[in-house]
Amino acid sequence: RLLILDFGSQYTQLIARRVREAGVYCELHAWDMDAQSIREFAPSGVILSGGPQSVHETETPRADPIVFELGVPVLGICYGLQTMAAQLGGAVVPSTHREYGYAQVRARGHSRLLRDIEDHTSSEGYGLLDVWMSHGDRVDVLPPGFSVIAETDSAPLAGIADESRRFYGVQFHPEVTHTRQGQRILERFVHDICGCGRLWTPDNIIEDSLGRIRAQVGRDKVLLGLSGGVDSSVVAALLHRAIGDQLTCVFVDNGLLRLGEGDQVMSTFARHMGVRVIRVDAEERFLGRLKGVNDPEQKRKIIGNTFIEVFDDEASKLEDVKWLAQGTIYPDVIESAGSKTGKAKVIKSHHNVGGLPEEMNLKLVEPLRELFKDEVRRIGVELGLPSEMVYRHPFPGPGLGVRILGEVHKDSADTLRQADHIFIEELRRADLYDQVSQAFAVFLPVRSVGVVGDNRLYAPVIALRAVETIDFMTARWAHLPYDFLDLVCRRIANEVPNVSRVVYDITGKPPGTIEWE
Ligand code: XMP
Repeated sequence: RLLILDFGSQYTQLIARRVREAGVYCELHAWDMDAQSIREFAPSGVILSGGPQSVHETETPRADPIVFELGVPVLGICYGLQTMAAQLGGAVVPSTHREYGYAQVRARGHSRLLRDIEDHTSSEGYGLLDVWMSHGDRVDVLPPGFSVIAETDSAPLAGIADESRRFYGVQFHPEVTHTRQGQRILERFVHDICGCGRLWTPDNIIEDSLGRIRAQVGRDKVLLGLSGGVDSSVVAALLHRAIGDQLTCVFVDNGLLRLGEGDQVMSTFARHMGVRVIRVDAEERFLGRLKGVNDPEQKRKIIGNTFIEVFDDEASKLEDVKWLAQGTIYPDVIESAGSKTGKAKVIKSHHNVGGLPEEMNLKLVEPLRELFKDEVRRIGVELGLPSEMVYRHPFPGPGLGVRILGEVHKDSADTLRQADHIFIEELRRADLYDQVSQAFAVFLPVRSVGVVGDNRLYAPVIALRAVETIDFMTARWAHLPYDFLDLVCRRIANEVPNVSRVVYDITGKPPGTIEWE
């Protein structure tokens, strides 16, 4: 397994995902991980990530020297290269020429890291690599034992290596897809240089998790709040395989779910997989609490609190439950750890934990804690969950509650469910579903005039929203074909009663958020 020390680059998680994709287990830890913890981790290799600092500033982060004393290969990327060079006796200077974006690197010599990996060959016979650079400093004097393995015009030491100690550094970012051979370079490092096999596969991940879950919970009973979302669904499937009937899931139908969603969850888990699922029909309770409430934040709070209440009520009816299972995934763990060291910001709050009755005293079991979303999906499919469920667009916790603007009524929810269902069904039929990151309908309580047959209609409006995004922080509205939008609009107008017109949202994020509330 590999250790990645995080110096704060925006790309660090990508390094970890790429290493995992290469079939090698790795963990990401803050750069100041201490010598003893590093020794206990016993990595087969270490990667030092990039970071925003300059090695010149006083008080810049340094890897613990143990990294270079373990006798294992080390790869420094960008800032990681610079700190390695500085720590091992080289010199780093501010570059007169800052490089951001594409660059072409000439591979020099026959380093184990870059040998036979190239995008083009230069007229002198050097391998050329198209890479992504982002840095202001550059290595000026090689540390003892190192030689140059790659250069650009402005960074003569864009890649360095000490082959005997298996220390490598590159100034560019192999983890981003703009570096076309990046994955091969990382695989060369983890497979050939560190000697790690391709063992981190969905099969092995599942086997490994089953063993750990069984060891952790023994014969105890476990409770899980099943939402139908990807993470909790995969947790349910995994726990069920590990401990069978010791698992009880509680599925809260809050009346704000998509069309047929509750039945789908019950059919997949209870009927097909034989998971014990308690379905709580809490529609009235939720809609009752939301009566007369217009403010979006207020609505979110009410939905969150009511969820906790309902979940608590059900949980306290169960006897001998010792564990609460949660779908925490690795990015959540990294974010919370990061916030301790002041690097990353937001911690995802799991609203189904906070309010459990004190006397229940549940311990947490979080079997996805080490997995990235793409790994969670892959093992979900491997565990037999329908891929349609596993690759579904994200759905917000408050559900349709934030897609019905203003006060929530049952008939608006019913109208929205039908319109949304038509939109999604047509997206799937046109093979567009997987090309957009999230798509849904929104219920607008404003009324507009329409005409149906010979009758005047004065009814609410449905807005359609579809976006493309990588990280959901920024997004572009999906440029869906006009013919497609036309078809969806016609179907909604014909099939959903009491909708006067359909509009398509062409707002990016920013300035719009993805949801309307
Ligand atoms: P916004 O609207 O902030 O949405 O651009 C970004 C992503 O987050 C989802 N979202 C939520 N998810 N609880 C959730 O679990 C919420 O209250 C919530 N609000 C927004 C949204 O669907 C999108 O994927």
